[in-house]
Parts: sequence; structure tokens; C-alpha cells
Amino acid sequence: MISAKIAGLGFYVPERIVTNDELAQYMDTSDEWIQERTGIKERRYASKHNESTTSMAKIASEIAIQRAGLDKKDIDFIIFATLSPDYYFPGCGVLLQRELGITKTEIGALDIRNQCSGFIYGLSVADQFIKSGMYKNILLVGSEKHSMGLDYSTEGRNVTVIFGDGAGAVVIQATEEEGKGILTTHLHSDGTHAEELAFISPGAHGGYFGDQEKYGFPSEDTPGGLFLTQKMIDDGKIFPNMNGQLVFKNAVVKFTKVIKEALAKTKLKPEDISLLVPHQANLRISQFVQKTFGLRDEQVQNNIEKYGNTTAASIPIALTEAWEEGKVNDGDLICLAAFGSGFTWGSALIRW
Ligand code: UT7
Repeated sequence: MISAKIAGLGFYVPERIVTNDELAQYMDTSDEWIQERTGIKERRYASKHNESTTSMAKIASEIAIQRAGLDKKDIDFIIFATLSPDYYFPGCGVLLQRELGITKTEIGALDIRNQCSGFIYGLSVADQFIKSGMYKNILLVGSEKHSMGLDYSTEGRNVTVIFGDGAGAVVIQATEEEGKGILTTHLHSDGTHAEELAFISPGAHGGYFGDQEKYGFPSEDTPGGLFLTQKMIDDGKIFPNMNGQLVFKNAVVKFTKVIKEALAKTKLKPEDISLLVPHQANLRISQFVQKTFGLRDEQVQNNIEKYGNTTAASIPIALTEAWEEGKVNDGDLICLAAFGSGFTWGSALIRW
């Protein structure tokens, strides 16, 4: 039977380190508050003009492809997960294809918009494509350049202190090794609270979901439409917003549930997990999950203190770091889990 395995993995984070103290120069926050509430000490910011979501993805991808022992031309499908795309459209998938110099092969490129669980959604899609025999070498990337679109005033502090930039990539291939590879993936969503962690404007909603006046859209009989209005800019409604407590409460419940679901499906137990790589949303969320499943410190990979929350990139970055540190070995059971905006959440179990 064919299953899908991760054959190579890589990550890239920008050089520039931004400490909590640096953020405290722009907004009313403190190193103590950020560390206590999130576990974050610092994050990376991409160069404003010389790096992009796609350029970071390119570097991570080249490492992953090289580690898989492949040439770029061997990639036959690209899946790109991000919430901070370079353009509103087209998506970063085709930009990455171009940056990698593999346009000649005219392979497909798919963009995934599932925020923090984007990587797990992409992994699940890749898993199905490999198992069906449709593709042989899928490049799956999560990359974010959050620093470009955050509110650096005190009003935006609950969101801004959390997020950081970076990219992670994996190459997914078929394996016929019995019991190896991606064992199971589980994807969920509930749009009830879609606006509670969201980047609403610019967008094509025209005020449909809320108060049209609030955003200052032109009247119905005015020709044309606007993604962005002067009122949005004047009112500062051009940044991501988050109801942190609501997200936190839902995250701890869903992380736990979706990991249990994966274990039940595979008839495995928490003690069988060699390494849990949770989406790096908040150290307190990871610690809650760790405690719930009775996992030891060395069974959980956390790097949020160095990079903050890199959304779609957080799992592939953490997984690659774990692999580089020698914590991911043949036969290990790796558990991935994520929760975020949408709300969307998911899990995966991989026998390495
Ligand atoms: O990856 C996607 C999903 N995102 C998440 O999973 C995030 C989940 N949520 C969280 O991580 C936490 O809710 C936060 C870290 C965002 C906030 O922590 P919290 O412990 O839930 O704080 P809070 O929102 O209840 O705010 C407590 C206080 C408030 O002040 P008052 O009203 O008590 O005076 C906030 O205004 O902390 C204030 N506050 C800050 N103070 C200093 C909020 N952000 C900051 C800040 N620095 N950066």
C-alpha cells in the first residue's frame, strides 16, 4: 500500500531579531508581560523591501528539496499556505514556482488559506494526492511576512507582540514501507467566530457581514467598488484583530480533541507519541496540551520564545528544527496539531 512521507524539510527565518524591549518602544507593553502571557522573548522580521513571503519560502524550499535528494525540476506540485500573501492575487504558489525557476514544467500550484492550520490542511491535501498516485514529489510550504501588516500602536499590541516572520517547507513523496509515513490527518472548521481573529479590510465584503457605514463604502448606486476606503484608513481598521481570550479558550479545547481523534483513529496512545509539534500560538496553550496528554518536556517541540507565532510556517519550522536537533528519527511517531483563525484546526500523525 502506498502512503505519503516527508522526504526533506527546511526552514528560513530572517536575520533581524526584534526583542520584546524593542516593541515596547513603539507601544505600551513590556518584556515581562509578553513573556508571562505568551512565552515569546523575540521574533524575526523580514527586510521590508528585500524579502517577501515568497522569497523566504524559496529559501526554505531549496533546503527541503536538496535534503530530499531531488532537483527542483522533480517537484510536480506546489502547495503554499499563508495568510500574508505577497499579492491579494495571484497567490504565492505561482510566485514560488517562478522564483524556483520551474515554470517550464507547468506544474500545478495551489494556495491554502487556512491560517494557523494551513500547513496541516496542506499536508492532508498532499497526502491524498500522493496516495491516489496523482503526484510524486509535492512541495508544501508555509510562509509568513506578518511584520508588514501589523498595528504598532498600543491599540494593536495584543496581536502585534505575538507574530513573527519565517518560512518552513517539506517535500512529500510516496513510500511503500509498511506502516511508515502520514498515518492520519484530521481537518475541522467552525465559521461561527470568523471575525474574532481576522484581517477584514481590505476585502470585497463591502460591509455585507456588518455595518456598511462602519467601513465607509460608497453608496450602492455609485459605480465600482472599493477594497479599501479612506474611512478604514482613518479609523485604523486596516489591521488584523483578535479576541485573544476567545481564541485561547477554543484553542485548548480543540487542540486536545483533534489530537485525541488522531490517536483514536490509529489506536495509539499519548505515550506512543515520540514528539508533539504543536502550532506555536502561545506557550501556555502548548503547555496545557502537554499536561493534558501527560507528555514529558522532551516530547514537545516549542520554539515560540525565539520566533513568536509564524502562523502557517510555525509547524514546518518547528519540525525542521526538531529534525536538525536529532529529535526526529526512523520509526518515531510525530504528532502535529494546530488551531487558529476561521476557526480552523487539524492534526496529523506521522510514522517517520
Ligand atoms: O495562532 C493563532 C491563534 N492565536 C492564538 O492562539 C492567541 C490566543 N490568545 C492569546 O494568546 C492570549 O489571549 C493573548 C496573549 C493574546 C492575550 O493574553 P491574555 O492573558 O488573554 O490577556 P487579555 O487579552 O485578557 O488582556 C489582559 C490585559 C488587558 O488589559 P486590562 O483590560 O486588563 O487592563 C489588555 O489590554 O492585558 C492587556 N494587554 C497587554 N498589555 C501589555 C493586551 N496585550 C498586551 C500587551 N502588552 N501586548
